[in-house]
Amino acid sequence: MTSNRHFDINATQVWAKLHQHQRATRHLLMRDLFAADVQRFQHFSLELDGLLLDYSKNRITERTLALLFELAQVADLSGWMQQLRQGSRINVSENRAVLHTALRLPASEQLCLDGRDVVPEIQAVLSRMQRFSEQIRCGEWQGFTGEPIRDVVNLGIGGSDLGPLLVKEALAPYAQSNLNVHFVSNVDGQHLAQTLQGLNPATTLFIIASKSFTTPETLLNAQAARQWFLQAGSTADIAQHFVAVSTNLAAVKAFGIDPAYMFGFWDWVGGRYSVWSAIGLPVMLAVGAEHFRAFLQGAYAMDQHFFRAPFAANMPVLLALIGIWYNTFYRAHTHAIMPYDHGLRRLPAYIQQLDMESNGKRVGRYGELLDFDTGPIIWGEEGANSQHAFFQLLHQGTRLVPCDFIIPMNSHYPLGEQHQVLVANCLAQTEALMRGKSEAEVMQELAALSGEQLDMLLPHKLFPGNQPSNTLALSKVTPYTLGMLLALYEHKVFVQGIIWGINSFDQWGVEYGKQLARRILPELSTASAAACKHDSSTNGLIRFFREQQHDGYQ
Ligand code: F6P
Repeated sequence: MTSNRHFDINATQVWAKLHQHQRATRHLLMRDLFAADVQRFQHFSLELDGLLLDYSKNRITERTLALLFELAQVADLSGWMQQLRQGSRINVSENRAVLHTALRLPASEQLCLDGRDVVPEIQAVLSRMQRFSEQIRCGEWQGFTGEPIRDVVNLGIGGSDLGPLLVKEALAPYAQSNLNVHFVSNVDGQHLAQTLQGLNPATTLFIIASKSFTTPETLLNAQAARQWFLQAGSTADIAQHFVAVSTNLAAVKAFGIDPAYMFGFWDWVGGRYSVWSAIGLPVMLAVGAEHFRAFLQGAYAMDQHFFRAPFAANMPVLLALIGIWYNTFYRAHTHAIMPYDHGLRRLPAYIQQLDMESNGKRVGRYGELLDFDTGPIIWGEEGANSQHAFFQLLHQGTRLVPCDFIIPMNSHYPLGEQHQVLVANCLAQTEALMRGKSEAEVMQELAALSGEQLDMLLPHKLFPGNQPSNTLALSKVTPYTLGMLLALYEHKVFVQGIIWGINSFDQWGVEYGKQLARRILPELSTASAAACKHDSSTNGLIRFFREQQHDGYQ
């Protein structure tokens, strides 16, 4: 099946059966399903190493799952999983292998790509990262005045920012207190300028993180950082203050960084899958090598589970299939991610890139137009803040919004009853979304009212319920459980891509805007005489920009 270039999943019998099943079951109420099966939680939940997935609050029955597993079989999911595991060139449009799982293999394993074991190379980079981060952390690595490094600034965007930023924040309780790690991603000068305010060039280290080392946002920030540094230090001091993480040795050298201070990775690691590689250097600097390795071990445990567990007991497969049930068969447009953990507040942004850059595609792997709905719009915000922002729409709006709630059972900061209150809020939301509130229940609450007053209030107080959610409960946010969690989402996205027939590892959709920005840039100059040859809106905006440049932008 894997090699069949014209395989149409939507032409299969099981696809039609799923549509039929959706029509037949869409009126089922989850509250009735819970009433009919008091063991529903036991039947629809799964635990692995302190990570519990409760998927019982979904509009699914045993039959739904059976059909979805059949869909996975028809799509030859097992065959594709095998290809992922062994690093086949499944990124067909870029003719690249996909092998980010190799980054978390233990040193004792072997994995050959084009006849060469990649594990020793991965381990060698990890060891270099470890040596470097230990030197920085213990103060042995000194800046140009002989002082230890106090601030690290990671300059990178997309996958070279979102992963390490999320992990560094989530693992803040493990961080060394005398080293501050900052992240600058945006080409908007505010980001770098505000970050550098108050930093001392003599005690600051910059990591230029870019897989391609061609991303303009990152390179402009790197140049600006170098200028800032050179106001205090000299070119000879750059080696102590600038290192690079990249796959592009030539460009790193051209920028003026000594290859001895470059930490490499490989083209078989996609940007959004790269936090496990040298892109994780800022994390290792913040929390130390031991914790970074535990993070990799957590991901490895999830990989093993994913590659070995049967579909019916496989967390990523279950999450993916339930997602497909809503995206494709219910035509839900979005999927919300709600981490009830302040340290995980950047998780929605991280999953946005992971999911939307991977599966936000309307053509299949071989260029064929897909006539069904694929990757959802991912959005979300940390709880409990999100409850006071957009939960109104989730409870009483007109849209179907499947949600993931992520919550640790233990907090690193046990202040009074605060964690219990947070947990209570999270669980209450999933319960309310599932149950809803019926007319009889509202009438009971409004027993003191009657007549017009009751008629007026009643509809406003009703909750239709039947809003689906998954709950991912972690024993605690540790490097290990965090590694499991992120690998879980990676594999979920992979499974969905396979079933939809998408290449989840390219991102051509981000190229066009970059191309046009290169064309528009010179036209912004007030000195530019060239007539703008865009649509009238873009022309008008360019002209307005020129007019507004009172200080002159030459
Ligand atoms: O936004 C497109 C993209 O190519 C992402 O896939 C990637 O994570 C990001 O840009 C940054 O790329 P690089 O690490 O090469 O600078």
